Amino acid sequence: MNNIVILYASIHHKNTEKLLKEIVKDKPVDLIDLLHEKNIDLSKYKVVGFASGIYYSKLHKSIYNYIEENEDIPKKSFLVYTSGGGGKKPGDKFIGYLKEKDFEVLGAYKCKGYDTFGPFKYIGGIAKGHPNEKDMEKGKAFIEEIISMV
Ligand SMILES: Cc1cc2nc3c(=O)[nH]c(=O)nc-3n(C[C@H](O)[C@H](O)[C@H](O)COP(=O)(O)O)c2cc1C
Repeated sequence: MNNIVILYASIHHKNTEKLLKEIVKDKPVDLIDLLHEKNIDLSKYKVVGFASGIYYSKLHKSIYNYIEENEDIPKKSFLVYTSGGGGKKPGDKFIGYLKEKDFEVLGAYKCKGYDTFGPFKYIGGIAKGHPNEKDMEKGKAFIEEIISMV
């Protein structure tokens, strides 16, 4: 039985979804698409991962909404995110938010994700090709580390 679950939202180029599907392949981790799955029941899980692209410096609002509206969420957590800029600030901010909500945070993984939002579309986008193979490999190592902590 899998006791790790990742709740995710991936709306721009499915960068985060692509990354997640690859890094949890053959691993005891379930993925739940927050924007498409209903009747989510987390009661059997010990650890929850939150994952999304970064939109205006934050994770997708469905993640915050889920946390605000539900009580059956395991208190051990981790974070995975992709962004055009690849910066650390959005993740640090979200970790602060999780801590305020009394979550323990086991770790965070981030990588760049192809971004054609706003003016970037006129130059063919930024972070082209990401998440790439190297991003996937590092992500797999991160998930293995999380699994080893459970
Ligand atoms: C509406 C919108 C806002 C974005 N804001 C940011 C941002 O503030 N910082 C950043 O680095 N990337 C930003 N991006 C780029 C995305 O974070 C990046 O492409 C990410 O990989 C998208 O993930 P997804 O394909 O899983 O949705 C934005 C993209 C969109 C569509």
